[in-house]
Amino acid sequence: AGPDRRTATGEATGVPAVDVSARGAHLTTASGLRLHDTDHSLKAGPRGPTLLQDHHLREKITHFDHERIPERVVHARGAGAHGSFVGYGNAHTVTRAGFLGEGVETPVFVRFSTVLGSRGSADTVRDTRGFATKFYTQEGTFDLVGNNIPVFFIQDGIKFPDVVHAAKPHPDREIPQAQSAHDTFWDFVSLHTEAQHHTLWNMSDRGIPRSYRTMEGFGVHTFRCVDADGATSLVKFHWKPRLGVHSLTWEEAQLLGGIDPDFHRRDLADAIEAGAHPQWELGLQVFPDTEDQLFEGIDLLDPTKLVPEEIAPVQPVGLLTLTRNPTNYFAETEQVAFHLGNLVPGIDVTDDPLLQARLFSYVDTQLTRLGGPNWQQLPINRPHAPVNDMLRDGYGQQAVHGGVAPYKPNTLDGGCPFHAGADTGAFQEALVRVAESTKTRDVPASYDDHFSQARQFWLSMTPVEQEHIVAAYTFELSRCFEQVVRERQLLALANIDADLCAQVATGLGLPAPAATVPLPDVAPSPALSQVGGSWPAD
Ligand code: HEM
Repeated sequence: AGPDRRTATGEATGVPAVDVSARGAHLTTASGLRLHDTDHSLKAGPRGPTLLQDHHLREKITHFDHERIPERVVHARGAGAHGSFVGYGNAHTVTRAGFLGEGVETPVFVRFSTVLGSRGSADTVRDTRGFATKFYTQEGTFDLVGNNIPVFFIQDGIKFPDVVHAAKPHPDREIPQAQSAHDTFWDFVSLHTEAQHHTLWNMSDRGIPRSYRTMEGFGVHTFRCVDADGATSLVKFHWKPRLGVHSLTWEEAQLLGGIDPDFHRRDLADAIEAGAHPQWELGLQVFPDTEDQLFEGIDLLDPTKLVPEEIAPVQPVGLLTLTRNPTNYFAETEQVAFHLGNLVPGIDVTDDPLLQARLFSYVDTQLTRLGGPNWQQLPINRPHAPVNDMLRDGYGQQAVHGGVAPYKPNTLDGGCPFHAGADTGAFQEALVRVAESTKTRDVPASYDDHFSQARQFWLSMTPVEQEHIVAAYTFELSRCFEQVVRERQLLALANIDADLCAQVATGLGLPAPAATVPLPDVAPSPALSQVGGSWPAD
């Protein structure tokens, strides 16, 4: 068929590819001009002022001045690695996604991160961890952008700026650990009690992982999968580390923060370099795609809720192995950009209002972070599937497009066979019924329960895990100035468990309030305890 005229690359149009790697016998400018001196600027005499006409000086300094790009607004601190994913072939009953086929090997790039700290912050702080995976599949790039905690702070993405503002340092001093920042964080989570479940996970040992290699990962939201016959299921994604789930103690985390702030980054890179390639199994929890989108009374569209593994076992569907460290942190770990809309045929989104906002936010943020709309062309983000889009020009454009104007239908472009619906290999949205309704900002009644699953988590912990949780709440709340905030958070704890509340209240020297909602009768879920472990390491 010859080169594709619509999205021709430089090679296809005869323009030589640019070799921008720093090598060769001679030092040159960016335009390839050979230089004879890069150590001395051009001056009016040996002791004279520097001349504006020194184009090499100006290019060298100008480029240096612009070496930094904005750090991510959240998850700025991270470490990445390359690897591969191999499907087991058993997921075809749920999804037609090709990369899950038996023995299909797909290259991946994974970026682990903390959420709140800046690019140079310490690794071992108490925080949620990001676990974002880019699968370069033959059907297009699939981004699974998850965390090491299976639930989120908020039920609706419209609150994301609020929760992040409440947790980030204050504008005046920019001190991340300032008491004022503790006040605003605890103020937010005690007012928005939907955040209590995620916060309890943060106060548990999950908030201070031993290593990225010993973290679970969760897609958090429920996704909708479609099989080859068009049948749909609701699905939650899980990553299970082969090394098991392990954490630091709080004392270890604090010491390491001072002694080796790069502890997790170093641990990941050293392990990969030594050939101890970390592995995770990808697992699915699968639920029937019912009209109410509930499973055993749990609202699958509420991202502050999980589904206990005892009632929906995680089924392993493939294995991820990280085998190669990045060669250039900026080009790979910094420039990698994820997008929830990077989906493949067989995997679709649901109406979870947090997921819906994320579908907008990630692309939007790349426009400033990566300088324009062409960030998917950066080497680390380039799809491994052929690209034939109608997107043109813009900042950072790398393709040299030829042919006629990109629009469809089009009878002048050499007969492109594009007809909507004709391509069976194409992504097609799952055609689910949307309930007849009126516009509203109301939420379903099922979103009102903020405490049952937090209570279940607490009751599932072993005594030593409970001890750590009490110590973490006591330490963190003791950093608040505002008595009213501490008291309101104690009230939230009373609504989770009287014993938890009483122990933290004692530590703070405050009276323990009584619960204001009935304490639900929930069964512990052993898989939530990392001492029991949810999947045994082999
Ligand atoms: C970045 C996870 C909710 C906006 C990230 C990253 C992860 C992540 C892992 C780091 C990606 C990387 O390594 O480059 C999650 C999870 C969420 C969640 C699991 C909830 C289930 C949200 C929401 C919003 C949001 C609700 C906004 C409405 C962002 C932004 C970035 C980010 C703007 C920076 C992206 C970049 O600059 O590349 N998130 N996030 N996130 N997240 Fe989220």
